[in-house]
Amino acid sequence: MKNTAITFREAKQKGEKLTMLTAYDYSTAKLVDEAGINAILVGDSLGMVMLGYEDTLSVTMEDMIHHSAAVARGAKSALLITDMPFMSYQTSVYDAVVNAGRLVKEGRAQAVKLEGGLEVCEHIKAIVKASIPVCAHIGLTPQSVNAFGGFKVQGKGEAAAQRLLDEARAVEEAGAFSVVLECVPQALAEKITQSVSIPTIGIGAGAGCDGQVLVYQDMLAMYSDMAPKFVRQFAQVGAQMKEAFAAYKTAVCDGTFPAQEHTFKMDETIIDRLY
Ligand code: KIV
Repeated sequence: MKNTAITFREAKQKGEKLTMLTAYDYSTAKLVDEAGINAILVGDSLGMVMLGYEDTLSVTMEDMIHHSAAVARGAKSALLITDMPFMSYQTSVYDAVVNAGRLVKEGRAQAVKLEGGLEVCEHIKAIVKASIPVCAHIGLTPQSVNAFGGFKVQGKGEAAAQRLLDEARAVEEAGAFSVVLECVPQALAEKITQSVSIPTIGIGAGAGCDGQVLVYQDMLAMYSDMAPKFVRQFAQVGAQMKEAFAAYKTAVCDGTFPAQEHTFKMDETIIDRLY
């Protein structure tokens, strides 16, 4: 069954958990899709895990469109949500609608995600009015890393917790179909989840959310620049890849690869006639 913004809302009503993983290319998108994950997020985390930046701030609209279009070709059942990169919507409501539209038209996104609470509600309303579903993102919003002074847990104090709850209600009111809660205390994430009718998708927010999202390189242990506390490594793919690369090098160097079965045959008398 095709996952959509509508089926996300229905899942919450039925009490069904939602799953989301990032993907940034066709082959990975196909694997995630075939595993039955509800949504694929083309996150601007691609700046870090695919492009090697230290944060997400340098990611461009062109980067997002390029990767989103590749993922779209591999995602059949999963809902494709693409991140709006830094400064593609903060500048104005007009820019937000134009750039959300580009992610849909050129990147084949089925929904967009943008970071922020009260300050982006007008942007969310305008994008939704243009018939583009919006997933909001509050808590630790990585595009604000410089304002936060690092990648830090948000909403621990009373004022900060109240603000996050207000923001979750505000993005719902603005028309978002779901909201990502990143790096917020478990008890606050539960309170928010109970207080809004749209699904909450947690990352570092505990099991009380309506769904979960992870960056796939984190959960496969392929990215070693950072090891967030909230990640479980479901497989050691990074170590397996390194082993396979080293085995390939050994086989090429000792002449065991390519073997006969990897070669193409011809009438070898032709070779003898060549001059
Ligand atoms: O960019 C991203 O991958 C994200 C997730 C961490 C939620 O925003």
